Amino acid sequence: MSSSSTIESVLVENRVFPPDARATEGARIAGMAAYEALCQRAASDFEGFWADQARANVVWSKPFTRTLDESRAPFYKWFDDGELNASANCLDKHIGTPVENKTAIVFEADDGTVTSVTYKELLARVSQFANALKTQGIAKGDRVIIYMPMTIEGVVAMQACARIGATHSVVFGGFSAKALQERIIDAGAKAVVTANFQMRGGKELPLKAIVDDAIALGGCDTLQTVLVYERTASAWNRVEGRDKTFTEVLQGQSSECAPQPVGAEHPLFILYTSGSTGKPKGVQHATGGYLLWAKLTMDWTFDIRPEDVFWCTADIGWITGHTYVAYGPLAAGATQVVFEGIPTFPHAGRFWQMIEKHKVSIFYTAPTAIRSLIKAADSDEKVHPKNWDLGSLRILGSVGEPINPEAWMWYHVNVGREKCPIVDTFWQTETGGHVITPLPGATPLVPGSCTLPLPGIMAAIVDETGKDIPNGSGGMLVIKRPWPSMIRTIWNDPERFKKSYFPEEMGGTIYLAGDGAVRSADRGYFRITGRIDDVLNVSGHRLGTMEIESALVAKTDLVAEAAVVGRPDDVTGEAVCAFVVLKRSRPTGEEAKAIAAELRNWVAKEIGPIAKPKDIRFGDNLPKTRSGKIMRRLLRSIAKGEAITQDTSTLENPAILEQLAQSN
Ligand code: WTA
Repeated sequence: MSSSSTIESVLVENRVFPPDARATEGARIAGMAAYEALCQRAASDFEGFWADQARANVVWSKPFTRTLDESRAPFYKWFDDGELNASANCLDKHIGTPVENKTAIVFEADDGTVTSVTYKELLARVSQFANALKTQGIAKGDRVIIYMPMTIEGVVAMQACARIGATHSVVFGGFSAKALQERIIDAGAKAVVTANFQMRGGKELPLKAIVDDAIALGGCDTLQTVLVYERTASAWNRVEGRDKTFTEVLQGQSSECAPQPVGAEHPLFILYTSGSTGKPKGVQHATGGYLLWAKLTMDWTFDIRPEDVFWCTADIGWITGHTYVAYGPLAAGATQVVFEGIPTFPHAGRFWQMIEKHKVSIFYTAPTAIRSLIKAADSDEKVHPKNWDLGSLRILGSVGEPINPEAWMWYHVNVGREKCPIVDTFWQTETGGHVITPLPGATPLVPGSCTLPLPGIMAAIVDETGKDIPNGSGGMLVIKRPWPSMIRTIWNDPERFKKSYFPEEMGGTIYLAGDGAVRSADRGYFRITGRIDDVLNVSGHRLGTMEIESALVAKTDLVAEAAVVGRPDDVTGEAVCAFVVLKRSRPTGEEAKAIAAELRNWVAKEIGPIAKPKDIRFGDNLPKTRSGKIMRRLLRSIAKGEAITQDTSTLENPAILEQLAQSN
């Protein structure tokens, strides 16, 4: 990361958009003075601040008396003698209030069919499914893998686990059998909840068959049951004794199920994400703190109001789909849209059409989606957002990767019609919810900046030793104090948790986000400059370079060595670029193309289609130092198509650079 280039681009971006009266009036945090007062309170009485929030925003079946326990830092505990149930906080809480008959979820299927459920109906469905899980022998503390498409049933499965105190681990429906098998084994899952097929872009894609393949890979010894939601009428292969349909297990189940109280630190879920080594990390979240932040960020960041229609386009397989589909909107009593399909089917105006149709007032999506829809609208007027009435929109959100100022402006002008604040929310699987974000009724916006930390989040930019870096210079993003929704540990690997996030050089208790950032000289606004570890962000999805390298070298008949780096991409943010040395001589022309295609499909099978390298280059060798270390910075330059200006004096085999630059 070069701080001079980051400073330059911060200086270039000097447009400021103050919140207008429409956003400020009646907002929960109205104006910067109100924001600063909350920050002050958190700074002067940290535990008191959080205790108040936890009492006001969470329903406790047993109140907590201890707010924060730091005695085993960085294994922090929050509200740990309190008890609650997450599902009761999302559903039961609304019964007997005007929310009970309000629509909880409006579901739009891939083909446009719409179904909806009220809070009361959703509670009944979650309870029934919770009873079904119990009948299958699932109890508090058991792990359940959810491998489901975007459906009401997917949310029901998550809520039902929470209701009985089972820990869910949702695996994105685009992950491969191998990736699924690793997660079933690591989590020690007792059950997998899946669907026979999923519908995406008019195509019926298998899910259950992938579960079968995963189990066939072996080692899933803890697994007893596979529950199958029949999303489509198509036939699927049933393994007798192990597989059961939703209809079968729901048959005769009561629609009442008392929520199981759990301790605040009870693991609500594990969600696997990529880190800098090959193996994905099982990020473990606690029930109390996570739920508090899911609810509170709905109030603060989205300023959610009773009449809002909220739509977060993220899949439940990612953290955004956990916090801002499965938990946050329900805890807030909001009406939300859940969408099964993809933004470009049947045309690239689908999002805008759905906003008009469902009168969406808060729309939350990823920069990648925006960039691809800009491209589509540029080449086809008919899918430009101007063709739809987007007057219902009040607030826009962005998540998952930095949003470039050009995309921000397009979103602001063409979607928000210059009336809607854009909340550029920075956060991570590990943070559980937003940590740095504008507040719609308070923060003056600067395109491309996630602006300021939420109250209680002690974010800072430091050097390797933990020393603060002055505004205007780049450094590492950290959070200096714990916060309730933070990762508790890596499932099965507490040592890795400590090592990955709490560097000894900084004292061992400060959370290291893994992103570089810079604060602007004038306002102290944060701007994220990208990962500082070996993690790529492709279309807002986290991918470990090592993970892809391991997948490539696992093709033992073909690949001798592989190195993976990211390069900037106009639409996906970053793209995967792989440098590969084969066990046979370096291929060229048609042969190179054919082998590259074979390797792409191989990676899709090993990890999932999202990890497919966009660019594969073959070399006789890789650029290495004399001690044998691959010089990735050189590969990054080659991938970008840049001239090599770095020092190459330690390079063992300089001629390789030319070869790799040419072979494309
Ligand atoms: C990146 C997604 C810039 C960042 C919620 C982070 C962002 C990683 C933003 C986490 C943003 C997320 N601006 N970068 N608003 N939001 N990121 O775990 O690199 O899938 O570390 O969580 O995405 O990705 P994850």
